Formats: sequence, structure tokens, C-alpha cells
Amino acid sequence: MSKVLIIGAGGVGRVVTYKCAQHPEVFSEIMLASRTVSKCEDIVRDVARDTGHQHLSTAAVDAENVPELVALIRSFGPKLLIHVALPYQDLTIMDACLETGVHYLDTANYEPKDEAKFEYSWQWAYQDRFKEAGLLAVLGCGFDPGVTSIFTARAAKHHFDEIHYLDIVDCNGGDHGKAFATNFNPEINIREITQKGRFYENGQWIETEPHEISKMLSYPNIGERNSYLIYHEELESLVKNYPTIKRARFWMTFGEEYLTHLRVIQNIGMASIEPINYQGKEIVPLQFLKAVLPDPGDLGDNYVGETSIGCRIRGMKDGKEKTYYIWNNCSHQAAFEETGTQGVSYTTGVPAMLGAMMVLTGEWSGKGVFNVEEFNPDPFLDQLGENGLVWHEKENIDLEL
Ligand SMILES: NC(=O)c1ccc[n+]([C@@H]2O[C@H](COP(=O)([O-])OP(=O)(O)OC[C@H]3O[C@@H](n4cnc5c(N)ncnc54)[C@H](OP(=O)(O)O)[C@@H]3O)[C@@H](O)[C@H]2O)c1
Repeated sequence: MSKVLIIGAGGVGRVVTYKCAQHPEVFSEIMLASRTVSKCEDIVRDVARDTGHQHLSTAAVDAENVPELVALIRSFGPKLLIHVALPYQDLTIMDACLETGVHYLDTANYEPKDEAKFEYSWQWAYQDRFKEAGLLAVLGCGFDPGVTSIFTARAAKHHFDEIHYLDIVDCNGGDHGKAFATNFNPEINIREITQKGRFYENGQWIETEPHEISKMLSYPNIGERNSYLIYHEELESLVKNYPTIKRARFWMTFGEEYLTHLRVIQNIGMASIEPINYQGKEIVPLQFLKAVLPDPGDLGDNYVGETSIGCRIRGMKDGKEKTYYIWNNCSHQAAFEETGTQGVSYTTGVPAMLGAMMVLTGEWSGKGVFNVEEFNPDPFLDQLGENGLVWHEKENIDLEL
């Protein structure tokens, strides 16, 4: 029985709050805090109605303000903080956790606001401070990063002596009926997918132009989709933690219509993160664009189809080469019926809750900063299906890659 503080009342925060409230035996008291408290109140009202959890509360907090965070944490007294606001706040929240003696868990690595740069260096630099404080920081416990890293850990533990080739494949086969929308925070999402592609081969990182490399891949229950090589943050920790990997890549599907919109957005300068002066006020074009795009949390209504995310792996077992595919498909409609939001928020929120459960029940422990593949994957994967994300695996099949 533990108190948990969730920060961030977006689509992912909604799912995390629902999922924690479904386990009152672990999460006995839950507080949801965010910049706009009315968003927390809306979520908590729905969660209380649907789950009957008796100890839910809300608060307003600016997660970029350490003293404000420290005061809130001290007044509530959680054992663990689940950070599902934005990656810009990772470091201030980690600072506040250190100051108050609280374990930390997030779903996305730190990004400075003025540079779209995805790397773990800033958070790995907290290793000694978390260790000395006897605290645990769990990094990247969403779906990707998160479940994809835990799928890789399962492959390494149960299926391979050496992993040689890792391809993470992420398909959204859903249709929300809008001309253009992103499935999670538009600012973070557009920063991620408009950057240069990058993959790891023979000890080196190889850079590509954005969306330069693509391949038609088939996804279970969805069919063939054009998949583009992009950089994704879990590649960095996975090649470090599994040094036998010779090549690691990440593929994401995009429709032609989506890419056309994206090209126009970039060509007219709306994806820029450089501030401009507009009528005497400084604005960031990408932040303005976020304000006019659909809120990802509102996409659930009429969203049909499924996501399919998994790992395709080639390596050695008992002296022979083998292939292995492990994946989950998630229905947008089922996610919406359960939590009032779409599948991308759902596939991120469920693992965040489960990671928190692993820490609070002692299944995952340690002192310092950890990426999720460093923990035992078994207790997590044992519970993933019954918490809404059923997974499947196949051996010795054509991986198409
Ligand atoms: N690993 C994965 O698989 C994965 C997948 C998708 C998303 N993610 C991550 O999940 C996180 C949440 O995504 P989302 O789609 O839920 O985003 P979202 O809908 O934009 O929600 C973010 C929430 O954070 C709040 N917030 C922003 N700045 C804040 C601040 N300074 N202090 C307090 N609260 C603040 C926002 O408040 P306002 O409402 O007041 O703006 C908003 O409610 C992001 O970090 C994203 O990168 C991870």
C-alpha cells in the first residue's frame, strides 16, 4: 500500500491514473498534479466514477519549478513519482525527488527546449546522486521506450545467447478521421520525427536524412505499411546494455497524407523551435502549431484500428542462428472505452503504471538510475496482458529485415 504522485494531466496521465486506480492494493493513495488543475479534476472525476477508488486527489504544480515541486511532494508524501508531463521537466523533477527522498519513473528522456536532442547523458549523469540517496530512478517506462526494451530483455534472457540484429517496429494502423493530428504531444512528436534518422551498425552511429530509408513491412492484423527508419531513444541504452548487438534500428509507419502535411509544416517554418517576434511578442512556431492542432487526448472518439509495436531480432542460440518476433497490438476503440483516450496514450500509460507497481512491490529494485531493460522482464511481462496489453511471440520466421 503506497502513495503515488502522478505529474502531467495529458492523454498519458489519464491512462496512468485509471490504471493505478484499478490497483488500490498497491496504489492506496493517488495524487494527479499538473500545470492546469482543471484537467486533473476532469480526469480524477472520471476515474473515481469508473473505478471507485476512494483516495484520489489533485493539485496544481509547475514541474519546472523545483521549490514548488518539493513543497507539493512534502505535503503529500508519496513513495514514488510517475512523471508523464513533458521531457523538458525530467531534470527538475529528478532534482525534487532527490531533495525529498522519493523514487522516480518517466517515459521519455530529457530534452532541452532549445535543441531537439534525444540522449540519456543528462539523466545518466544523476547516477551517483540517486545511488548515494538510496533512491531508484526508472527511465523510459512507456511502450517505446519501455515495453520494447523489456521485450529485448526477454529475448536476451530466454531466447538468445547473443542478440546480433535488433529492429524495433512501430505501426499505428489506426484512423482518427482528422486531416492531420499527432498521437501524443504535438511539439514533442514533431521534434522527434522531423530530426535526422540514425541507426547503430558495427559500433558506430550512422546518420540519414529524415525519412530517407523506408521499407514495406507487414504487421499482424494490420497488413503492409511503409515503415521509415527514424532515431529513437531506446537504441542508445539497448546497444550499451547488449554489447553483442551489431545493428540496431527503429522503424515507424507514416501514411503519405501525414508525410505531405509534415513536409508543408516544415517548409513553411512551422516546425521551427527558434523563437520569432510576432506583434511584439516572442513565440515559438512549433508551440503555436501545437495550440491549433487537435489535442491528442481528444482523438479517441471515432478512432478505429490498432497499433502494433514490437521487436524483430536475429541472433545466436546454442550455436545456431535464429529469428524472433515479439509484439503487442492495441485497439484504439478498446482503449477509449476503458479510459476515454486513444491507443497511443494507452500503450504508454499501462507500462508506466506497471513499472511503478514493480518498484512498489519490490520486483524491481536498486539504487541509482536504470533503463528498464536492466530489470527482470518476467514479472512485468507476466502482468502486461492482464492489464490490457496482450503480447505474442514467434520464433524462426521471416523478419522481412
Ligand atoms: N515512451 C513512450 O512510449 C511514449 C509515448 C507517447 C508519449 N510519451 C511521453 O509521455 C508524456 C506525456 O505525453 P502526452 O501525450 O500525455 O502529452 P500531453 O497530452 O501534452 O500532456 C502533457 C501534460 O503535461 C503538462 N505539463 C506541461 N508542462 C508542465 C509543467 N511545466 N508543469 C506541470 N505540468 C506540465 C501539460 O499541462 P497543460 O495541460 O497545462 O499544458 C499536460 O497536461 C510526454 O513526455 C511524451 O513524450 C512516451
